[in-house]
Amino acid sequence: MRINKFIAHAGVASRRKAEELIKQGLVTINGQVVRELATTVKSGDVVEVEGSPIYNEEKVYYLLNKPKGVISSVSDEKGRKTVIDLLPQVKERIYPVGRLDWDTTGVLILTNDGDFTDKMIHPRNEIDKVYVARVKGLANKENLRPLTKGVVIDGKKTKPARYNIIKVDPEKGRSVVELTIHEGRNHQVKKMFEAIGMPVDKLSRTKFGTLDLTGLRPGEARRLNKKEVSQLHNAAINKTK
Ligand code: URA
Repeated sequence: MRINKFIAHAGVASRRKAEELIKQGLVTINGQVVRELATTVKSGDVVEVEGSPIYNEEKVYYLLNKPKGVISSVSDEKGRKTVIDLLPQVKERIYPVGRLDWDTTGVLILTNDGDFTDKMIHPRNEIDKVYVARVKGLANKENLRPLTKGVVIDGKKTKPARYNIIKVDPEKGRSVVELTIHEGRNHQVKKMFEAIGMPVDKLSRTKFGTLDLTGLRPGEARRLNKKEVSQLHNAAINKTK
């Protein structure tokens, strides 16, 4: 098995992240640094990433209702609380599938399955992600229309999104809008609303593919069952056909 696939299978990182680790010289096989992405791992080989041996673990999948004030990574050099700190009972080396901002709440999947992660975050697979944003300004068809056509953020146009106006509050001068996108660019929702002059002051992800937050309070997590995991696989496969 190729080294990046082996690392992804072991749940250490997605395949793409594994390639980065290899290029950075952080991966060894039997004590020798590997820099060649085409290197294969044979049975009995000892693979280490950043000095720690890696093993293939059972694949596990969790759904977290991410609260505000935690970061979506495995560790933080500044010692801030991470989403991993919210699942202390999990023994496997899980990590978040994509990111939610520090102040964004809602649906976040965590797993040790690198192939699953790649599939969920690949834009080609068009998994719907639904966000509810409280924005400045009074939402209407005219000012939200650019979101459905695509707006330019970081020099690149977004794919057409769908919206649903949930509330318009003229007294407070703000609105609540549901937005469905299937890309996952950095700060995408905030930047999309920023691009139409309606900055976001509160953001929650209410759905990721077939998953929603039913039964989970902020900070709570539960394990996904096999059916839920295959539904997510199908949500991705169906779009690639
Ligand atoms: N878009 C954002 O702007 N922030 C998130 O956390 C997720 C999507």
